[in-house]
Amino acid sequence: MTSDGFENLLHERRVFAPSDEFKAQANAQPSLYGAADADRLAFWEDQAGRLHWDRKWDLPLDWTDAPFAQWFVGGKLNVAVNCVDRHVNDGYGEQVAIHFEGEPGDTRAITYQQLQDEVCQAANALVELGIEAGDRVAIYLPMIPEAVISMLACARLGAAHSVIFGGFSAEALRSRINDAQAKLVITADGGYRRGKAAALKPAVDEAVTETPSVNNVLVVERTGQEVEWTQRDLRWKDLVGRQSTTHVPQAFDSEHPLFILYTSGTTGSPKGILHTSGGYLTQTAYTHYNVFDFKANTDVFWCTADIGWITGHSYVVYGPLANRATQVLYEGTPDSPHQGRWWEIIEKYGVTTLYTAPTAIRTFSKWGREIPQEFDLSSLRLLGSVGEPINPEAWMWYRSVIGGNRCPIVDTWWQTETGAIMISPLPGITECKPGSAMRPLPGICAKIVDDAGVPVGNSEGGYLVLDEPWPAMLRGIWGDPQRYIETYWSRWPGVYFAGDGAKYDSQGAMWLLGRVDDVMNISGHRISTAEVESALVSHPATAEAAVVGANDETTGQAIVAFVILREHAEISESTVDDLRAHVAREIGPIAKPRQVLIVKELPKTRSGKIMRRLLRDVAENRSLGDMSTLADPAVMGLIADGLSAPGAVED
Ligand code: WTA
Repeated sequence: MTSDGFENLLHERRVFAPSDEFKAQANAQPSLYGAADADRLAFWEDQAGRLHWDRKWDLPLDWTDAPFAQWFVGGKLNVAVNCVDRHVNDGYGEQVAIHFEGEPGDTRAITYQQLQDEVCQAANALVELGIEAGDRVAIYLPMIPEAVISMLACARLGAAHSVIFGGFSAEALRSRINDAQAKLVITADGGYRRGKAAALKPAVDEAVTETPSVNNVLVVERTGQEVEWTQRDLRWKDLVGRQSTTHVPQAFDSEHPLFILYTSGTTGSPKGILHTSGGYLTQTAYTHYNVFDFKANTDVFWCTADIGWITGHSYVVYGPLANRATQVLYEGTPDSPHQGRWWEIIEKYGVTTLYTAPTAIRTFSKWGREIPQEFDLSSLRLLGSVGEPINPEAWMWYRSVIGGNRCPIVDTWWQTETGAIMISPLPGITECKPGSAMRPLPGICAKIVDDAGVPVGNSEGGYLVLDEPWPAMLRGIWGDPQRYIETYWSRWPGVYFAGDGAKYDSQGAMWLLGRVDDVMNISGHRISTAEVESALVSHPATAEAAVVGANDETTGQAIVAFVILREHAEISESTVDDLRAHVAREIGPIAKPRQVLIVKELPKTRSGKIMRRLLRDVAENRSLGDMSTLADPAVMGLIADGLSAPGAVED
């Protein structure tokens, strides 16, 4: 965000307090902050009491080997049992866990009893395929119940899952499978998107030609489309379908790996973020209960995130299921078959709590309020936002058009690395300002510091850091402990640096300002400039590439690439399209640049560093800022010339 933008935020005077009715019934009451402040570790021990432990922990936290944390040391539990079996044992087997809504309109209501049966069957199938505790399983599925079932089956066996977003390419899939040395890939023939069957299996087929660790591919038949079939492929229906619905679970150590999730960092190679069991489940359950004011007997929860992102892990699977939620799982896009699909789903299932991303809210506001207004949204009582800063106008639209001016909004800040929500209003307590995530949750220590690592005061800005360990924190980067230390814990000693800039307003509320590193945020998806640059450079026509994230009204940021072609490369009408398609092939359609500009030179400092700031000025059509550190000031003129050259078109 520009500093002007922030000045506007500082003048944001609107404040929205929860109603007296909401306050009175809220799960989180003001005493929660006091309890956490009085004794932070005892507070987290209370929160761990939300779970069923086969063996109680001896120690809440071991931080002696910092930054490698251990939470609830010596405790044992089974995560899948906590999310499924215990609710059945408590007599809630008939409660619907998942209302699945397929894009074509097919539906399934899955009770906790059915979920238990299917998770046990899937776990038994995995055992038959030789999967054991400690193994890794890659999951590449659409948003269908089998995605949740597969994750829980892995958790039940103590095998770590690595879910790879269905929008990633074969190449991205291959590198992630190899990094984790996954033994099994669970996929589907395809999934439905925008009214069409979109194939998934061909990407897996391509990826596994170079993944020696993979023994089998387990395939869910979702669309029935034609796919190639080889010996290593197995049909979910056949293999899982014939298994027993009984599986005796084992309890695992609190620090047993639960999953790896790859996310973009500042270099070209994604990091496998490692999460473990007891602490992660404690904090996801705690936040789901308090931030979403969750009531197991009456709420219908809907988090719209894809299972391939951390939000899907923590607030579709683990947090809600640990709390015995009834929730909606929707396969498709918001505009299929019409732009009111989400609101129709809310009306149909009586959704009480909607958790989504600002990019979606901005899209809906562009489509117009007439669309949601055709539906009965009166079941909604709480709204949430995640993934990027929500601009005050989008916040206000969300509040009035979707929330009928009655629902509190929780703007939740967190990351793949933090595992669960860290900074957020509490809906029955906080007086919210549109666009602010307000303050750290009870039990969480977050601060804004300056370059020297010194905390800044009200009305000042700097870097967001976390200066005490938290239960759902990442335990490392898979296979690379040194990179973990360097990436997160080296800027200031003993402090986790999140990569975000933030400011306090005059009253001490926190305003997140976006990434300060080379990570872009496209529709709430993290993509690094380096990843896209290396994809562009892998195209034979490219000599050099520089990528920036430019402000975009709908997607938050959009990818703009500046490319220098090789001397003898032929430029044709299709060069720009070829380059964009190449990136989509290398990384996935989400990384396709909005614009590719063919240029002759890139602006560099004397030490050879690309000056992205100037490129961002160009990409955002601003007049150029300070060019004094530029090695060759003439270069910006050349870029301007390049803009008018053939091939530099925007599409
Ligand atoms: C950004 C998503 C402002 C931030 C859960 C962070 C946000 C990155 C917010 C993590 C928010 C997430 N306000 N910015 N409420 N939530 N971010 O790992 O830049 O996909 O570092 O996790 O998203 O993205 P990730």
